[in-house]
Amino acid sequence: MPTPPPEPHLFVVFGATGDLMQRKLLPVLYSLQASGKMPEGSRILGVARRPLTDASFRALCTSALQAAKSGSDKLIQSFVQERLFYQSVPTEATADFVALRQRVEQIEKASGLSGNRIFYLALPLEAFGPTITGLGEAKLNPAPGWTRLVIEKPFGRDLASAQALNTLVHRYFDEGQVYRIDHYLGKETVQNLLVFRFANMFIESLWSRERIDHVTITVAESLGLEDRAQYYESAGALRDMVQNHVTQILTLVGMEPPGSRDEDSIRNEKVKVLQSIVRLGPHDVVRGQYTSGTTAGQPVPGYRQEPGVNPQSDTETFVAIRLKIANWRWQDVPFFLRTGKRMPVKTTGVTLTFKAPPVTFFQTAEEYRSNPDRISILIQPDEGFELAFEVKVPGREMRVQTHRMKFHYADVFGPLPDGYETLLDDVILGDPTLFVRADEVEESWKLYDPILKSPPPLAFYPAGTWGPDAAQTLVQEWGQRWYYVT
Ligand SMILES: NC(=O)c1ccc[n+]([C@@H]2O[C@H](COP(=O)([O-])OP(=O)(O)OC[C@H]3O[C@@H](n4cnc5c(N)ncnc54)[C@H](OP(=O)(O)O)[C@@H]3O)[C@@H](O)[C@H]2O)c1
Repeated sequence: MPTPPPEPHLFVVFGATGDLMQRKLLPVLYSLQASGKMPEGSRILGVARRPLTDASFRALCTSALQAAKSGSDKLIQSFVQERLFYQSVPTEATADFVALRQRVEQIEKASGLSGNRIFYLALPLEAFGPTITGLGEAKLNPAPGWTRLVIEKPFGRDLASAQALNTLVHRYFDEGQVYRIDHYLGKETVQNLLVFRFANMFIESLWSRERIDHVTITVAESLGLEDRAQYYESAGALRDMVQNHVTQILTLVGMEPPGSRDEDSIRNEKVKVLQSIVRLGPHDVVRGQYTSGTTAGQPVPGYRQEPGVNPQSDTETFVAIRLKIANWRWQDVPFFLRTGKRMPVKTTGVTLTFKAPPVTFFQTAEEYRSNPDRISILIQPDEGFELAFEVKVPGREMRVQTHRMKFHYADVFGPLPDGYETLLDDVILGDPTLFVRADEVEESWKLYDPILKSPPPLAFYPAGTWGPDAAQTLVQEWGQRWYYVT
């Protein structure tokens, strides 16, 4: 069925002066408008506490769009002057949100909009609750048209806070109106995991305990803290990366074929994966923190020496986890997940390693195990697939060599859209498939809550390495090793 065209709306961004809006959302909104995906007549209202005028907000946004090289100065000016507005909401008081509602209604009337509203919360976690309450109490929802509420990550700090936030959201919004964002789900390669698996019979027939020996998921950053000490000190890698991005990739790798392409069929299958994971014990998790070291040939300080970080900080910058999914497809197949800052390279990918042939004529079992056949999905920075398989080296001798066959998206399709662009387009079209449902976010927190409540002690690793030794032991104890692809 063709997607219905997008409808004109007012796009309200809370946290409009912040990093996410200025660096990411604004260029994406500009790009959606330039490509005709944001309908004529739509307007963008920036909201934050600080007292800006429309003019000073437009000046701020002009600089951000120029810095992002979004378009010519003339086009940027026409976008900014025609589409952008600003309203300060200085406190959590209902009166401030009533003033916001009056401004929303005034812009809608002046722009001929019929009352379709998107509220995007690009706010710190502690501001989600008061803002949702403010929207509800000031009757910004229900609107004369449709309303969509987009909530940034992290959705809660643990299971209890995520449940409380869901309860609050549902006091004022139906679940069908809510779009919990995980920008990894907007990446083409993450979405293509579904196509790769369920549109290619030969792939799907390999995708189970019959053929797969183990699975590794790596989300590695080479960067360190990058001025985000305040946020990161209260989050750490488990909350910042594992509970959301890494777990979302895990569910897409592990899920069963959905009954159809609709949003609930897909999300139901993802939830079932989370419900089938064997509860983690303290020995299944390694928490690490980087010390001083070298990345890209440059000496870098340790985490505890970064500006704004407590010199005794217990925050983890690395997590490795081993787990099993107890169902018919994956019983006894180890899944190894790891993420960290200050890793040797920036790479996100999944590798499924095949079992050894039952009889190995051409290599010893040890030789096979040192370089087994595998399928890798590269999610970033170089999106694509890679198949590592054995070939005979030409000549009289029977020598076998592992060959790597690669498919790079960019070679075939050119540059890919930013994950945020895909997701914002989906919000505008009203398609929640790539957003995280309430039960999904709670199941994910359930998995990690015991670790958050009773975290294993930190192990340390020099910046520029693949994490602490304990992360190697974690996989070796189950007879495996880590793989990554670049
Ligand atoms: N930056 C990224 O690349 C990125 C990536 C993924 C997810 N996120 C998520 O996006 C959200 C925003 O991140 P950010 O990096 O843009 O943060 P930020 O740079 O600190 O900006 C926060 C914004 O929220 C407003 N704000 C701060 N405290 C507030 C409060 N108590 N009540 C109301 N408004 C408040 C700030 O303006 P005023 O001080 O004027 O109110 C500012 O506009 C966070 O949930 C973050 O986890 C960010």
